[in-house]
Amino acid sequence: MHENIARVLFSAEQIQTRVRELGRELNERLGDREDVVILGLLKGSVLFLADLVRSIDRPVKLDFAWVSSYGAGTESSGSVDLKVFPDGDLSRATVVVVDDILDTGRTLHAVKERLRRNYAAAEVQTCVLLDKQGRRAFPMEPDFAGFQVENVFVVGYGLDYGDRYRNLPYIGVLDDRRS
Ligand code: XMP
Repeated sequence: MHENIARVLFSAEQIQTRVRELGRELNERLGDREDVVILGLLKGSVLFLADLVRSIDRPVKLDFAWVSSYGAGTESSGSVDLKVFPDGDLSRATVVVVDDILDTGRTLHAVKERLRRNYAAAEVQTCVLLDKQGRRAFPMEPDFAGFQVENVFVVGYGLDYGDRYRNLPYIGVLDDRRS
């Protein structure tokens, strides 16, 4: 374990098992939809998305959007900066927005609105690895969620603190004295 991690919440094995299940759930619930775009929010979703799509047994397109809602620390900056969105026609697509964690709901709420309003996406679904349900401030429930988490700041498997710890294979809680 990394020296700054106080405890592990989800081990690499637990994550891999749950992500494979989520992939199977997506497969089933997407039914016979033909135009499916998996849209990862950078940077936090990258590891999750890479594992998730390998458990999805159907043709999908991959795309990414650059969205930031947190600064370098653990508190929300209060606004969502939607920087780069995909090009192309989404008017016949089912877009599955993939993010690392759903916290207040501000980010996914804004992304969903934008996809509907500016891109006229036919359908938007959301898939997050972690759901901090107790923190919700915006009307947003995920269509797919890996694990519920308590109200603690977590890092690893894509999640960062000051852009560090993303490469940890597990998800853990930072030692208070370091965060
Ligand atoms: P909202 O509040 O918009 O937050 O739902 C979603 C974004 O906030 C970041 N976030 C975290 N990042 N550990 C992190 O590394 C956390 O515990 C955490 N909680 C929220 C994350 O970028 C997510 O996309």
